[in-house]
Amino acid sequence: MQQTLTNQIAIVTGASSGIGTGVAISLAAAGATVVVNHSSASSLENAQAVLKTITDAGGRGMTAQCDVTNEEEVEKMFADTVDIYGTVDILINNAGLQRDAKFEDMTLKQWQTVIDVNLTGQFLCARAAIREFLRRGPRPEVSKATGKIICMSSVHEIIPWAGHINYASSKGAIRMFMQSLAQEYGDRMIRVNSICPGAIQTPINTDAWNTPKALNSLMTLIPYNRIGQPEDVGNLAVFLASDLSDYITGASIFIDGGMTVFESFSTGG
Ligand code: BGC
Repeated sequence: MQQTLTNQIAIVTGASSGIGTGVAISLAAAGATVVVNHSSASSLENAQAVLKTITDAGGRGMTAQCDVTNEEEVEKMFADTVDIYGTVDILINNAGLQRDAKFEDMTLKQWQTVIDVNLTGQFLCARAAIREFLRRGPRPEVSKATGKIICMSSVHEIIPWAGHINYASSKGAIRMFMQSLAQEYGDRMIRVNSICPGAIQTPINTDAWNTPKALNSLMTLIPYNRIGQPEDVGNLAVFLASDLSDYITGASIFIDGGMTVFESFSTGG
């Protein structure tokens, strides 16, 4: 791919697995210097492996341990990035998780963990990014926009999801979070958009694809008839982070093989 992100610094949260890994690798291949965030010591090895993939391919970056729900750790990750690389141009607000349960059985902890990581984590990281974009001001030599934030949402920002009410609530909230941010900072030339993935083959949804039966049943939800790959999302992240999408802000872009066009209605209704 063309080097559309040369000399730009990107922080990718939750980059030690799944979609975050795919996005980190794609941004680096497009020329960005990538901060590969991971949440704890136990994910350090994975983050280092992601960084190795990046540097083996000629890219640049570093790993950064930070729990996105911890204000001090988030502030430190941004401060370290600015110390080392000078600024931040792109934030991929990706870290997210599921804690599934039937609603009547859902514990407060399951609810709070999901809201803390998927929503409050995006708040803390976006606030740190916005403060850095405002401090630094425009950098027209690398990008038309002063800064870009990409929120990892989900098809479940619009598709209700029984058994996953904490998760669907967090993603529905991300829609308003992203749009309100885009509204508040558009005049400062800061672009904020969401990526809304459907079923992407990662550890978060192993149950949906690890047996032929599960995969067949998943395909009844996907008109395009394949499960998505992290690289599919990585390609979209590169586009949204680059000047190729300079007139896009406040948008939720669905990347789901057609999941949101309701396959189940293809022969009835
Ligand atoms: C969830 C996955 C699920 C997909 C489609 C994603 O946001 O994290 O577990 O497979 O939506 O339902």
